[in-house]
This record gives sequence, structure tokens and C-alpha cells, in this order.
Amino acid sequence: MSSELKKNYIVQPGGKLQGYIRVPGDKSISHRSIMLGSLAEGTTEVTGFLEGDDALATLASFRAMGVKIDGPKDGKVSVHGVGMHGLKVAEDDVYLGNSGTSIRLLSGLLSGQDFETTLTGDKSLSGRPMRRVTDPLAQMGAVIDSNEGKPPLTIKAGNALKGITYTLPMASAQVKSCLLLAGLYAEGKTTVTQPAPTRDHTERMLSGMGYEVDVQGDTVSVEGGGKLTATKIDVPADISSATFFMVGAAISEGSDITLTHVGINPTRIGVINILRLMGANISLSNEKVTGGEPVADIRIIYAPLKGINIPEDQVPLAIDEFPALFVAAACADGQTVLTGAEELRVKESDRIQAMADGLQILGIDAKSTADGIIINGGVIGSGEVESHDDHRIAMSFAMAGLQAGGTIQINDCANVATSFPNFVGLAKEAGLEIDEVDE
Ligand code: S3P
Repeated sequence: MSSELKKNYIVQPGGKLQGYIRVPGDKSISHRSIMLGSLAEGTTEVTGFLEGDDALATLASFRAMGVKIDGPKDGKVSVHGVGMHGLKVAEDDVYLGNSGTSIRLLSGLLSGQDFETTLTGDKSLSGRPMRRVTDPLAQMGAVIDSNEGKPPLTIKAGNALKGITYTLPMASAQVKSCLLLAGLYAEGKTTVTQPAPTRDHTERMLSGMGYEVDVQGDTVSVEGGGKLTATKIDVPADISSATFFMVGAAISEGSDITLTHVGINPTRIGVINILRLMGANISLSNEKVTGGEPVADIRIIYAPLKGINIPEDQVPLAIDEFPALFVAAACADGQTVLTGAEELRVKESDRIQAMADGLQILGIDAKSTADGIIINGGVIGSGEVESHDDHRIAMSFAMAGLQAGGTIQINDCANVATSFPNFVGLAKEAGLEIDEVDE
């Protein structure tokens, strides 16, 4: 996989971002299109699919379980669904690379199958907490072996599941989705209550495929035993990938960039809300709904930013966008304070520490706290920072180059391929002076 190849970014200082850019497809929706398409009756035609390592890991895992999948080619995938009970045992352990969404959602879905599967991942995934899914799945009747709550996970065969009523201890769409997918196979009703809204792509796609989902505020329920009907899925551009360009434009004078056909699901737009609170000039146009998901073109014109106290209700709505937002905070006038974001410590890396360390190397006063960070805006210098094999850390520091006093070297950027395979090309096209060098 990509993490075996060592790649660094070298970013020259200065520049601005301009033009019209379409970033790759939404990672969360791409995963779900393969999972639900595989369980559906009929052929699901997907367009705009993310051809990044994470979504491809999900695709490969369903192929290994006997699903015929054509593509991806130019973002087009045809998933020939096998129905709710048509998956077959994979010949080997299923390797899911860097992908937390794959392992957590699959562990729910596989709990309902009559065969055993072992799910493995790379070094980062093998260190990530899984009790958040294995504990409630055990309450439903699943039997899962783990390495002290971490991958590999072995999901045992054929344990009859029963629906549970469960309140999530943390705002996690992955845990919610995992339990809903197990709930499709459970006897009776599975009800999940989240402490705050999280991305609802699973609920939307289930409904779009004809499965009844009951949503009452922060509580979602499904009854087991239904079926899914194949559909067309147009995957919007990923707002999490668009974020790097939004932040880049927001910090560099003279920038004016439009990100086209971006998903603006209300559970994903924390980055727009937070940047606007900081003073960014963001406007939306061409708003429409495609395949049950709202999309728009997002235009950002440079305007000076100011530091803010980030409202805690925005945290789950911007959970993957904080590394980039910390770069915006570093370029803002005054102090930015983030609290209530301890989940950032258990992402692909400890994103609070990784960003605090890198920003300090670049001369910014950034102090990590247990559940967030305090950043005093300043002048970004130059230096060598570590991505910790985390795609979003790598791309965030790349954008810092636009405001840097000198060259920034970012180490271990191969994992950018998990979510944004053509990042360097698109960033260059938009105006960032970035090169990828093999080590
Ligand atoms: C995701 C949910 C989020 C997010 C991840 C993708 C999903 O994780 O960070 O990148 O597709 O459901 P949590 O639900 O664990 O917060």
C-alpha cells in the first residue's frame, strides 16, 4: 500500500489560489456506495467515486466477498449487488489499509453474516480504538475477537443479532453507521442516539435504496429484515478535500477560488461555519440536491481572518477539517481556542499533537490541551514538519506554504493517496508551489 513508499512534500513560500477546481469524490459516501450497493438487489451505478486507497480498500473487500464490481474508471463504478444474504466468505483476511470507516462499518455489517472474517489494517489503523464498536455489537449478540480493543478484528460466524437501544458515548458517525448496518440483520429494532449530530450519509443512502429509516432528532432506528434496492449514486466532491483549498484561499492575499460540485450536507459544513466566524469571504452558488445529498459550488475570496473561540457544537460537523483550520488560525489575527475535540487524538494520528508540534516548528505559538488547542496567530516561518503518515496533516501543512517565510518540508506524505490522489497536481494548478519527492 501507499504507506510503504516514502514521499515528502517541498513547498515554496508564497502564492495565491485561483480558478475552478473539482476535488475528488466524497470518501464517506464512496465507502457507503460500495457497501450498500453490494447488499442491494440489482446493479448500483456510481459516478464521482473516490479512487483513493481508503475507498478502494472497501471496494477490494467486497470483491473478496464475492461481489462483482466493474471499475472504477473515471469515477464510474458498477456494483452488482448480491442481496442482503449473498456475501461469501473471503479466502484470506481482509486488509483495510488506513481506513477507520471501512473497519468500523464492516464490523457491523459482518456481524450479521454466517461466515467468519478477520479484518486487518496498517500500522495507524492497528492502533485505533475499536471497543467503541465491539462493545455495542457484543450487546447485540456479535462475537468479535480483537487485540485488546484494537485491530485485527475477527468477527465470528452466524451469531443471531438482536436489536438494541444504544446511546453513543461520543459523537461518531462510524459507530452509528456500524450499529445501523448490524441492525439490518438484527431481530427487531436497533435504535441509536447520538450526543450531537454527525454525518448522516448512511441514513440518507439507506432511505435512497428503499430501506425505512426512522429519524427523530438525534435518534435513528432501523428494523432488521428489510431489503435494499439498487440505485444511481452521484458522489459529490468531498468537502473535507475542498477544505484545504478553502483554507489556502482564506490565508493568501489575492486568492479567489471556486470549488465545484461540493457536498454541503448540513452535517458536514462546520468548516464553512467556522471560517465565516473567522471573517472568511465564502459564497455558495449552483445549489442543488443530487442522489439525496445537497451540493454547491463554493467560492472563497481572500479576506483577513481573526481568531475565535470555536463553538463546540461545530466540532462534529468539522471533525476532519481541524488540521486545516489550525493553519487558518495560525494566520489569523488573535487567539483561536478549540475545546471539546478530544476525538482528534484518535484519528489517523493524534491530530492535536501533530499540528501543535508542526506549527511550533514553523514559529507559531500553538499549545495543545487535553481536548483541543490554543493557537495565537502569527507569522509562519519555514522548516521541516512531520505528517505522522496522516493525509490531512500533510495537506494542511502544504497550504501553510502560501503564508510561509521560507520553504516547508513535510515528511511522509504517501498517505495523501488515501483520500486525495491528485492533490499535488490540483494544488499546483490552483497556484501552490509544491513538489513531491521520493526519499
Ligand atoms: C466518517 C466519520 C468520522 C470521520 C471519518 C469518516 C464516516 O469519524 O472522522 O473520517 O465516514 O463515517 P467518526 O465517526 O469516528 O468521528
